[in-house]
Amino acid sequence: MSMKKIGIIMHGATGRICSTQHIHNALIPIISEGGLHINNEIVVPRLLLVGRNKTELKKIADKNNIKEWTTNLDAALSDSDFSIFFEGAATHQRLETLTKAIKAKKHIYTEKPIAPSVSEGLHLLEKIENSNLKHGAVEDKLYLPGFQKLKNIINDKTLGEIVSFRLEFGWWVFNGEDTQSQRPSWNYKKETGGGLFLDMHTHWRYVIENILGNISKVVSTSWIAQPERIDENGNNYSVDVEDTTNTLVELENGVSGSIFSSWATRIRRDDLVCLYVDGTKGSAIGGLRDCWFQGSDETPIIKGFDISHEANKGKTFNDYSKAWKVIENNNPFVNPYRIGWENFLSHVIADQPLLSDLKEGIKDIQFAECCIKSSKEKVWINIKKI
Ligand SMILES: NC(=O)c1ccc[n+]([C@@H]2O[C@H](COP(=O)([O-])OP(=O)(O)OC[C@H]3O[C@@H](n4cnc5c(N)ncnc54)[C@H](O)[C@@H]3O)[C@@H](O)[C@H]2O)c1
Repeated sequence: MSMKKIGIIMHGATGRICSTQHIHNALIPIISEGGLHINNEIVVPRLLLVGRNKTELKKIADKNNIKEWTTNLDAALSDSDFSIFFEGAATHQRLETLTKAIKAKKHIYTEKPIAPSVSEGLHLLEKIENSNLKHGAVEDKLYLPGFQKLKNIINDKTLGEIVSFRLEFGWWVFNGEDTQSQRPSWNYKKETGGGLFLDMHTHWRYVIENILGNISKVVSTSWIAQPERIDENGNNYSVDVEDTTNTLVELENGVSGSIFSSWATRIRRDDLVCLYVDGTKGSAIGGLRDCWFQGSDETPIIKGFDISHEANKGKTFNDYSKAWKVIENNNPFVNPYRIGWENFLSHVIADQPLLSDLKEGIKDIQFAECCIKSSKEKVWINIKKI
């Protein structure tokens, strides 16, 4: 079997998501294992890290044993040994950087949101297709083991007919006053592409559509729960984008559901994100890794409220979680970002079909845009086909 190197420019290499998920957890394991088998070839990624801070770049390169790195994006783009461009830096510079990479005739794989707006995303797509380049969007939540198990038991009809769903996401993000914030400050500013809708609803679109069906309309409300924050350098700033949202969704198949996303909520649920689905024969909850199921046989027969037992004061009367069982799965865990890379590389090298292309990434932005519009105008928005 012949071996082939494929050059990949990693832009934003010092950032949280690029350095951890894309480099350390996805591409480095592929390289360490000797490459990917695609058709009759072994394909080994060759990485060129690009970032703005030399010291940080060198740290990431050394940690991962990568020899090639630069702070000069233009020089990286002009290197014909690297045919793929990955964009994982901060959101606000994405459109400009991708436009440059397309001009340099690189295949494009990009983090979300793939562009600031649907119209700009469509324009990018047109440029890429006119240049005959391959394109992909990161849609990593498709491959969360918990969601995959949930999808399987919906597809095999274990839940019967679906009657409703609700997605709950979030945790408390400290505002920096007493405890340092766990999220970068650009997430909280409109001018740098921040806001919860753009950050998370770009995921919830493909999660919901792949597991439950196409979304036909949406209505959202949103607010700023923590308006004043302290940034990485200890400076105060005012938040001008939503950090908490509530959304109702109707699907083309008639099922309705809701999405609650918040960076200002404290968790009492099974995971950081949970997708609850109720069906006529059973219900299931998909989390990051696990999926819990309750069939008709385990469903408690509840006759109404009962708050009369003094002995139970202050406690939960029934531990309702006992009526759920974990769905077993013996498949080994594969990092979702790695699955995304394997799919994209197979698409570039062997033309294998890709589920998450740029058009899907544009649909993700469309959903976020519709939520933002609905939240401003307080109206239902119909989702147009792209
Ligand atoms: N798929 C996911 O689940 C997921 C999760 C988190 C973030 N993201 C996306 O990944 C991107 C990066 O997020 P992050 O959390 O890693 O952020 P981060 O703040 O940790 O990293 C951002 C990187 O961009 C660089 N950068 C900032 N401004 C730049 C500029 N003007 N030009 C070039 N580089 C610049 C920074 O130096 C840093 O390396 C965002 O677009 C975000 O939406 C995706």
